[in-house]
Amino acid sequence: MGAQSPVLSVRNAQKRFGPVQALRDVSLEAYRGEVLALLGDNGAGKSTLVKCISGVYALDEGEIVLEGELTPLNSPASARRAGIETVYQDLALFDNLTPAQNFFCGREIAVPAWLPRGLRFLKKGAMDREAAAVIDRLKVRLPKFDAPVALMSGGQRQAIAVARATVFARKVVMLDEPTAALGLRESRKVLELIKQLRSEGNAVILITHNMEHVVELADRAIVLRQGRKVGELKPDKSNRQELVSMIVGADA
Ligand SMILES: Nc1ncnc2c1ncn2[C@@H]1O[C@H](COP(=O)(O)OP(=O)(O)OP(=O)(O)O)[C@@H](O)[C@H]1O
Ligand SMILES: [Mg+2]
Repeated sequence: MGAQSPVLSVRNAQKRFGPVQALRDVSLEAYRGEVLALLGDNGAGKSTLVKCISGVYALDEGEIVLEGELTPLNSPASARRAGIETVYQDLALFDNLTPAQNFFCGREIAVPAWLPRGLRFLKKGAMDREAAAVIDRLKVRLPKFDAPVALMSGGQRQAIAVARATVFARKVVMLDEPTAALGLRESRKVLELIKQLRSEGNAVILITHNMEHVVELADRAIVLRQGRKVGELKPDKSNRQELVSMIVGADA
């Protein structure tokens, strides 16, 4: 990474849910043009960390710095405005909306103010076309593009969420188990999209339990265990076992 400065720094993050200390003094840095794998067993705190960075939860303590500036992320909308896109593990799409409406929710394509109200359908057409073009790149077949997302399968929903993130990514893209619900072919497409996001200069934070994907994609890996950062390394075939031991906490 040389002298490059991080696009995202998390410093001394703490997050507690009642008796559960989900994050304990976690610090990390992410750089443009890299895939950073965030690893750990179930309950290690990965999704909590993602949600703190994406403005869903507020940190109890600690800070988030974007391109050198302390950035309060007190809502998902403020994180998106700051250039952070997130694909949530629990697939935060709006059930009653279509894929295109989900895509552009909160940032509809602007219609010039002088256009009469009756021409608003132009906007819908533009949004539908853009969303359809991106989803098409993913090669995921949707039953009916203008159907509400509630009627789609887990994999189709996941594809919509990944496609949305790739369109709007500007700095940081976080993908929380983006291939968990996908078939082999769709998973491949998502891996390609991740590489594309990296080559476009984003910092990509990838959460996955798939070690093959980690070895193939990740430039760096950070391991969480019981809310604590327990290790960091550059994954490759030779240290895969070391990585797994870090994750499960065995000193074997
Ligand atoms: N909203 C919440 N309320 C209460 N406890 C929570 C909440 N979200 C997470 N936790 C707890 O915080 C801890 C970390 O959970 P988290 O979802 O971050 O784990 P994870 O690393 O993403 O696990 P997985 O691999 O299973 O997705 C767990 O003990 C979990 O039960
Ligand atoms: Mg999780």
